[in-house]
Amino acid sequence: MPAGESFYITTPIYYPSDVPHIGHGYTTVAVDTLSRWHRQAGDDTWMLTGTDEHGQKMLRAAAANGVTPQEWVDKLVGEAWFPLLETLDVANDDFIRTTQERHEKNVQVFFQRLYDRGYIYAGEYEALYCVGCEEFKPDSEIVDGTGPFEGLKVCAIHSKPLELLQEKNYFFKLSEFQDRLLELYKTQPDFVRPDSARNEVISFVSQGLKDLSISRSTFDWGIPLPWDESHVIYVWVDALLNYATAVGYGSDEDTFQQRWPAYHVVGKDILRFHAVIWPALLMAAGLDVPKGVFAHGWLLVGGEKMSKSKLTGIAPTELTDVFGSDAYRYYFLSAIAFGQDGSFSWEDFAARYQSELANGFGNLASRTIAMIEKYFDGVVPEASEYTEQDLEVQKIVADAATAADAAVEHFRLDEAIDAIWTIVDRLNHYITENEPWALARDENQRARLSTVLYTCAEGLRALAVLLSPVMPQSTAKLWSALGVEESLGALASQPIRDAGTWGALSPGTHVSTLAPLFPRVEQTA
Ligand code: ME8
Ligand code: MG
Repeated sequence: MPAGESFYITTPIYYPSDVPHIGHGYTTVAVDTLSRWHRQAGDDTWMLTGTDEHGQKMLRAAAANGVTPQEWVDKLVGEAWFPLLETLDVANDDFIRTTQERHEKNVQVFFQRLYDRGYIYAGEYEALYCVGCEEFKPDSEIVDGTGPFEGLKVCAIHSKPLELLQEKNYFFKLSEFQDRLLELYKTQPDFVRPDSARNEVISFVSQGLKDLSISRSTFDWGIPLPWDESHVIYVWVDALLNYATAVGYGSDEDTFQQRWPAYHVVGKDILRFHAVIWPALLMAAGLDVPKGVFAHGWLLVGGEKMSKSKLTGIAPTELTDVFGSDAYRYYFLSAIAFGQDGSFSWEDFAARYQSELANGFGNLASRTIAMIEKYFDGVVPEASEYTEQDLEVQKIVADAATAADAAVEHFRLDEAIDAIWTIVDRLNHYITENEPWALARDENQRARLSTVLYTCAEGLRALAVLLSPVMPQSTAKLWSALGVEESLGALASQPIRDAGTWGALSPGTHVSTLAPLFPRVEQTA
């Protein structure tokens, strides 16, 4: 995208009915990395995350714990969801909670508008509801229960019995939007990504859409409908509105104009809400649809979606306490093709930590700095003549930076990291080929040694810049050890789209000792 353009990106707002697991952490670090990249490229960036606090699931979690729903969400958000952002080193610009006044008031503004425009009507409803999904289930996601649920209809995702609900509801005329939605997917082919998600959405909408129940009248934990306070707004449509209310919808028109529309990154479990219902609601209100929806895959445990309700959730701190937040971020973003499912395993995590981070990137950084200290008293030498081989390294750096930016444009962080890693691999190989320790023994090779170590140090400079959105902490340590803060400025202010331009590191810079970026971990498992 052109530098300076507005880039507004969101995570789903999570249910604080329970504590976060590594699946929530996955989406959040992906969105944080995309926004750090764009911010560092100079784009007018805004990252939103938050919590979805209404609905029956929350009501039941609170009741089960003997507190009010407000007490429950305040406790969980304060004790678990805010700390998640610290744990994972997330630099979000805002955090919205759907119980905040800025949200509740403007959700009412929005639905009053739809009501006034004739898109809402009252009706009777009877259907099977999944409280885990907070959704009336389509036939395709209703299956026969097994074991203790033999004879009952259960949710295909949660494997828990569905509840037959029968009540008066207000409905949104979703069925009227089939043609406009299909037109949107056609004219804006990257509205839904990746292709597998796009195809699923197109086939779903092509089969015809039913009107959507948007209110509930049998409980009151939600936002009252402005024209009928005996109903609360259905938790999902309340939640979707967060993306608009957080940037001023209904209260601050200038900010809304500046930021909206957004890119949404979500797990594929909630694709339909974002790619079908949400744009239809926006069309009905006369607002712009999102710039795009990217659905990533699921972290699987034993072949199934990791989930708290199935007790397969792993807390992010279990990993970060041992390996640190950079390793967490790197692992999930590099090991899983963004858009596909991935199986989590401790063995794979530990193996990649050791081979890619400790032995690959970390060791490259440590030994380059150690050799500059040893052979040049800690002063970055000036390169003399570049050979073919050195020029090839420079080309790899330039190409990697270009490819990584292009991959980030497509939300493919895994491909961006792959591209950047060609620099790590090439430089480690370059050191092996050039044997600086042998060059150092020969006074006549002083010029060659200078070129080799300058090449490594300048490659590290580029790596620090390119990897800082993925691994903010270790790259900050590297930046500081390279001693470039004074000449080049702070790492976070390095223009990332220029990272591959050779020669930014000035000879004469003083490096300082670098402790291992990825220390050996004691494995207890
Ligand atoms: O759905 N693998 O909230 P939620 C990958 N409140 N990502 C996963 C995952 C897994 N196993 N499990 C969860 C809701 N996630 C609504 C959203 S938005 C307007 C309202 C991530 O707490 C993934 O991003 O159930 C998924 O879409 C989200 O958490 C669901 O979080
Ligand atoms: Mg869920």
